[in-house]
Amino acid sequence: MTELKKHFAVIGNPIHHSLSPQIHTAFAKEAGLLIDYEAVLSPLNQFKQTVQTLITKKLNGANVTLPFKKEAYELASSHSNHAKIAKAVNTFEFKEGEIIGHNTDGIGLVRDLEQNLHVNLNSKKILIIGAGGAAEGVVYSILEKKPTELTLTNRTIEKSNMIQNKMNEYAKSFDVSLNVVEIVKLPHHYFDVIINATSASLSDGDLNIDNKVFHEDSLAYDMMYGKETNFIKQARSQASQTSDGIGMLVEQAAEAFYIWHHIKPQTKTVIDLLRKN
Ligand code: ATR
Repeated sequence: MTELKKHFAVIGNPIHHSLSPQIHTAFAKEAGLLIDYEAVLSPLNQFKQTVQTLITKKLNGANVTLPFKKEAYELASSHSNHAKIAKAVNTFEFKEGEIIGHNTDGIGLVRDLEQNLHVNLNSKKILIIGAGGAAEGVVYSILEKKPTELTLTNRTIEKSNMIQNKMNEYAKSFDVSLNVVEIVKLPHHYFDVIINATSASLSDGDLNIDNKVFHEDSLAYDMMYGKETNFIKQARSQASQTSDGIGMLVEQAAEAFYIWHHIKPQTKTVIDLLRKN
């Protein structure tokens, strides 16, 4: 290993599908940096050992994906504000024996919505469907943008209630009305942005959302990418604007790149390239 070259990895299980090596290699090439970035499959019960092995190999940082984001939070010795609130980590910095945990998912989503899709979240009404890790990880970043209202819904509504309880103090501090509404009671009014943060698309599941949730001037955003989900199909049939989550993926990577290299990469060319492929 040369001194100049920095080393990174993404850790997950499964990991073969990960686009992170391609994204970070493209960012580094454009920035004129010498890096390598590998995809590492960690056995499900050996996440900590996997990270420790990478540290002994002098890695500078790592991304963490499913199903290890909570374990990554536990393993980190200190945390960014976003990681602390989400209690989940998707980016490690390895620095002088310390493991610093960050979470760039929420920032990635908000940047994709605001900068790439040109939706200013301030004063908007937003709906998030889902209450798993993916949903919980982006709530704070949305609240920070001070929408008028953020409504949470989920098949298992108790999980939405739990997120509401946890995030209410932040919602109040940003003057946002944070609500929970059962799926069967939607739509209770108009939403500007409707975000699917469920994993229903993995099993081709339907969310059982009323068609009236979608409007021709609202944006339906699916955090999934790589296939047209039933959510996107339904939104399109109601003439909603739609987007998959490829931009979020690239923007969360861009924020991790910034943490490691202090350089903000251009994201548009990478998003266009991944979309074309
Ligand atoms: P992730 O980390 O991707 O968020 P997760 O924590 O397992 O994964 O959460 C998955 C989310 O997708 C949950 O909100 C789940 O709903 P439940 O809480 O009711 O389980 C939601 N989900 C998964 N499959 C679904 C389906 N077929 N219909 C509706 N919601 C679904």
